[in-house]
Amino acid sequence: MKTLAIVVILFVGATLADVTPARLPEEFLQNLHKKVFQPRVVGGDYAASKQFPYQVGISTKKGGSFYWCGGSVISEEYVLTAAHCVAGEIQSVLLIFGATDRTNALQTGSSRQNITHIRDGQIIVHPLYNPMEITNDVALIKLNQKLEFSEFIKPALLPESGRFQTYDNSPAVLSGWGKVEDSGSVVQFLQYGYVTILDLNKCMQFYNTQEYDNGNICLDVENSGVSSCNGDSGGPLVSTVTGELIGVTSFGSTAGCTKGYPTGYSRVTHFREWIRFHTGL
Ligand SMILES: *[C@@H]1O[C@H](CO)[C@@H](O)[C@H](O)[C@H]1NC(C)=O
Repeated sequence: MKTLAIVVILFVGATLADVTPARLPEEFLQNLHKKVFQPRVVGGDYAASKQFPYQVGISTKKGGSFYWCGGSVISEEYVLTAAHCVAGEIQSVLLIFGATDRTNALQTGSSRQNITHIRDGQIIVHPLYNPMEITNDVALIKLNQKLEFSEFIKPALLPESGRFQTYDNSPAVLSGWGKVEDSGSVVQFLQYGYVTILDLNKCMQFYNTQEYDNGNICLDVENSGVSSCNGDSGGPLVSTVTGELIGVTSFGSTAGCTKGYPTGYSRVTHFREWIRFHTGL
């Protein structure tokens, strides 16, 4: 069982044939090998407009309070996020696309959808989602209106098959409006950081999990100097090798985001057939 609970909390149907899924622009791939350790996402940097066109900001209203999460555009109609972001009695879901400034509804290229009457089947939480163990932490949101893709808004590239990959020591990039320090709150401008994937066994040991859970990927926060934090949940972890969406931000240590402890992501390949079943993608 994961004895340390969630700290990380962050974030849509049929692809237009002429729109290619969002790959990271070359300039962002090249910088990888010059990565500098800069402990301050925590440890991240300001994202440029169009850099993460698949990034979604999600504000949910639950019991009268608002919660912030991230998500990934996976098609014109579907957003992939974490189950813990949308499970339970959600009153409304505000989705923000193509934005870096989450507070500016008029930002060039951005668009919003506020789903105030959630229809049956519109939010699909994984049937085996377990909030105590934080397993199968994935959900899909079906949009009210189809997205118009542009330079600012594009779907993430989904791994083609559900084949298990360890991704150990492999580089990736995460993004979100989550806290940049333990004491703060979610930030105005989208942050991102380059990270390295941690051996899953080490992560499972850290979280005192008996069972090796193929449904997770963890990040080596200590060596990356970058960590997801509260408000990043549901958001994207993308491989900088293949450009594929490989993780959905799920959990971190209750000790905080600045201690260098590993953070956990739902492994997209593990849920690939489930995504296909519900979306046809
Ligand atoms: C979205 O709808 C909810 C419920 O009606 C409302 O409380 C919230 O303020 C709306 N958000 C925006 C940005 O319009």
